[in-house]
Amino acid sequence: MPMDENSLRQRYEQLKQEIHFHNYRYHVLDAPLISDAEFDRLVAELRQIEAEHPDWVTPDSPSQRAGAAPSEKFEKVRHPRPILSLANAFGADDARAWFERIRKLDPRVERAAFVVEPKIDGLSVVLHYRDGVFVQGATRGDGEIGEDITANLRTVKAIPLKIPVEGQKSNVQSLSDLPLFSNDRPATFDFRLPSYLVVRGEVFITLKDFEALNQRLQEAGEKTYLNPRNTAAGSLRQLDPSVTAARPLTLLVYQVVHAEGGEVPATQWELLQWLKALGFPVTDAARRFETLDETLAYVQTWENRRDELGYEADGMVIKLDDLRLAEDLGFVGKDPRGAIAFKFPAREVTTRLLAIEVEVGRTGVLTPRAALEPVEIGGVIVKNATLHNFDYIAEKDIRVGDRVLVKRAGEVIPYVIGPVTEARTGAEQPYAPPETCPACGQPVEHFEGEVAWYCVNAACPAQLVRNVEHFVSKGAMDITGLGIKIVEQLIAAGLVRDVADLYTLKREDLLALEGFADKKADNLLAAIAESKRQPLPRLLAALGIRGVGEVVARDLARAFGSLDALAAASAEQLQMVEGIGPNIAAAIVDWFGREQNQKVLAKLKAAGVWPVSQPSAVSSPPSGPLAGLTFVVTGTLAGFSREGVKEFIEAHGGKVTDSVSKNTDYLVLGENPGSKLQKAQALGVKIIGEEELRALCQPQSPIVNRQS
Ligand code: IVH
Repeated sequence: MPMDENSLRQRYEQLKQEIHFHNYRYHVLDAPLISDAEFDRLVAELRQIEAEHPDWVTPDSPSQRAGAAPSEKFEKVRHPRPILSLANAFGADDARAWFERIRKLDPRVERAAFVVEPKIDGLSVVLHYRDGVFVQGATRGDGEIGEDITANLRTVKAIPLKIPVEGQKSNVQSLSDLPLFSNDRPATFDFRLPSYLVVRGEVFITLKDFEALNQRLQEAGEKTYLNPRNTAAGSLRQLDPSVTAARPLTLLVYQVVHAEGGEVPATQWELLQWLKALGFPVTDAARRFETLDETLAYVQTWENRRDELGYEADGMVIKLDDLRLAEDLGFVGKDPRGAIAFKFPAREVTTRLLAIEVEVGRTGVLTPRAALEPVEIGGVIVKNATLHNFDYIAEKDIRVGDRVLVKRAGEVIPYVIGPVTEARTGAEQPYAPPETCPACGQPVEHFEGEVAWYCVNAACPAQLVRNVEHFVSKGAMDITGLGIKIVEQLIAAGLVRDVADLYTLKREDLLALEGFADKKADNLLAAIAESKRQPLPRLLAALGIRGVGEVVARDLARAFGSLDALAAASAEQLQMVEGIGPNIAAAIVDWFGREQNQKVLAKLKAAGVWPVSQPSAVSSPPSGPLAGLTFVVTGTLAGFSREGVKEFIEAHGGKVTDSVSKNTDYLVLGENPGSKLQKAQALGVKIIGEEELRALCQPQSPIVNRQS
């Protein structure tokens, strides 16, 4: 029966709240309760209703995050109050001097408490909420006037589009009625919520997201980004919000700039809890201290732990907890007296660029690398740094012999920022990229639209070592005991000319190598033989086709089912698979078209390394004993690795998702299960062990339902 207008309207309001809630769980708390697919279904339902009732759509609808048209330029926004900066302290003495200065200005400082927060290296933004709805967002600009980047900020999922307001049943309060709601939010506050609230925070990209973004770009032969901060800044200043939406931006909020028609906490410590309760993302590394000594001790512990933050921080901010006192102290220029930035030692140093070396990756990409005069950066001796690509060297006019500025942040590979041109003596040598591969001497090639240069010689020894190394690695064929040293030995001895040669190695071959005795040789041969049983996605990812990593390999295996079918596929057919664009499709066709690769495939087939998956999902629905069944796995299984059990279920036609829902058919239970178990029990999902899972794959076996 179709819903009447009233119920549909109610459903619409409920959907908006549910989507906001799950968005908050995912992007702010990092603790999702439903799977991506379930979330997508909610959004699809919302969009369907909005398509039928465009007049119902409000600016706080989750559908309004993306989709705004590109603008011509950014409008100017005057901030309700100046957006201040911070004075710096380089070490404890500076911080104590700051304290002495303000103590003399106001006796209350003597007994003041402090709050410490990370100083995030991102972009300051100012967010306006009217009656609980996000209505405007701006850059800091010159502190007085910023630029209106509302449409871009809407795409940042960590920014709430709606916050609670007084008297109105808010999404946050009513969601506490939902059975899924957990008590992650702190207790409610006794403040009258403002009707107009302006907050300030920092937009940034985590180091992990940044690395992943660059990894994807590099695999696709595209230009990589230089550092998280510039990438975040560039993303926010895009005229087309859909570009911003594609970047992994996030945010942490730390200040109330302005409030009307309500009250705001009077201390920084309470303010952070309050902002968190309103649904804003707030750092969990903040602490409150009663004395400056304790404060400084805490700040200094972060000097060695800064990498644990997961994002770039250039220091810790020390703030007077009493916001009234801080306000009364006023400011000097643009720096408030009530707070100071305690800077971490710089992670940028200058050193000499001794040479530019060129590495050949397993896909043949040539990457320039800086050989540096060794230098210490933040406790680590750095001898090499990335130069990104050959265009970068040319753009920055980096010359061999230059004094260069090098930066190291977190786990990210150190990189050369640029030359210190003032330090030039005239002896520096301009650099030209190699015309031939440094490993094999064959001419290098450049593909239209890509920045990378490639060595396309399949017999290139540098590629061979990396190829084999990749082939045997954990995420690929997973051959234990075959480290890089042995790979190099096998290649140097002429025993391995391509990856297929691994499968024809003999015991005598290995025993003739240095360091090999009976046991080691037997173990290695056993591990190689065992790898023949790896499923198709593994082998596909192992082949090292440009753009075909673990995820793409799984999709391809599901769609084509065998290497024979894949080799016969046209670029058009490949692009029918979701997530495969023209670049990857072309790379796959090119790979299978090369004679050398065809030889390798023929050898693999002859050696019995030829896994076949369940038939194509593109042309026919999945089949197999588990077809149509959805599984969730929790805990550790004795006979399967995490990936292994997934592959096992998929190979038998089943589907594996990350979280339990009413659509889950079975929860596979291992040792030390997580919260998925309770959820499965609550929803009445069938719970099975790994033996029962295997039994399910044997036709007509009875299945025990532990749930009574
Ligand atoms: S407080 C009156 N807290 O650092 C308040 N700033 O170099 C002044 N920043 O412009 C700012 N993390 O963009 C504050 N936890 C934090 C911060 C922070 C990063 C930025 C902010 C500011 C710059 C000053």
